[in-house]
Amino acid sequence: MADRLRMRSSVRNALVWRVLHDAIADLTAALGRDQLDVLDVGGGTGGIAVPLAELGHRVTVVDTSPDSLAALERRAADAGVTALVSGVQGDAANLPDLLQSADPRHGEAAEVGFDLVVCHSVLEIVDDPAPVLVGVAHSLRPGGLASIVTANAVAAALHRAIAGRFDEALHVLRDPLGRYGQSDPTPRRFALSDVRSLVEAAGLTVVATHGARVFADVVPTGSLDGDPQAAASLVELELEAADVPALRDIASALHLIARR
Ligand SMILES: C[S@@+](CC[C@H](N)C(=O)[O-])C[C@H]1O[C@@H](n2cnc3c(N)ncnc32)[C@H](O)[C@@H]1O
Repeated sequence: MADRLRMRSSVRNALVWRVLHDAIADLTAALGRDQLDVLDVGGGTGGIAVPLAELGHRVTVVDTSPDSLAALERRAADAGVTALVSGVQGDAANLPDLLQSADPRHGEAAEVGFDLVVCHSVLEIVDDPAPVLVGVAHSLRPGGLASIVTANAVAAALHRAIAGRFDEALHVLRDPLGRYGQSDPTPRRFALSDVRSLVEAAGLTVVATHGARVFADVVPTGSLDGDPQAAASLVELELEAADVPALRDIASALHLIARR
């Protein structure tokens, strides 16, 4: 069971990690240093922050949930990277204030700035995504990169229709910024053009767009069971599909890289 979950999770996260690794390679080459300052907005329990710290980067996680931040601390300790990971509790809508007061350099007129800001699976659940993105842009050093992952409304419509919930599919298409029904766990989703506009309105330049999980969320349950080669093939397929515009546009999640 644990192996099955691990296999599914590695397939689901493969594209996001490839894009992050590419962004990190781009930044370290441009900056001429191996260690980046990373901000993970809504970073939760550290699923991204801790592996980034294990690569040697300094990571600050901002999250509203004290429980998640406690889990982050434990995860960082287990991985031996406590010195590289810090958690700040607060609302991502107030990033500049939160980071200013959390920064030990505060009071010395030093500017808080990050090379890479990660904001994954957060814009769909915050009260208002616009101020979060303004804070993301403000937190980046000039030339820094933002990695933004959001739920794709088009994919949700497809998935609801495949599940036979045609009324819900229609609802998502007509109103991606609202829930399709009471059972919808996601307050809002975005079409690619909408999230791109929001990112650009915050003052960032979108430099790449990818689709994450084109197939992984629709392949039959059990199709990976006990077959590591099938998982490897699906990862390869996902990585290839991510940059094919017609497939990117129906992926479960949209992954944008934007530069300040
Ligand atoms: C779906 S999880 C995503 C976690 C992580 N970014 C990832 O991709 O695995 C959303 C996270 O955002 C946090 N969150 C929700 N609203 C927030 C807000 N207004 N400000 C900061 N964090 C928030 C939640 O506590 C949760 O940890």
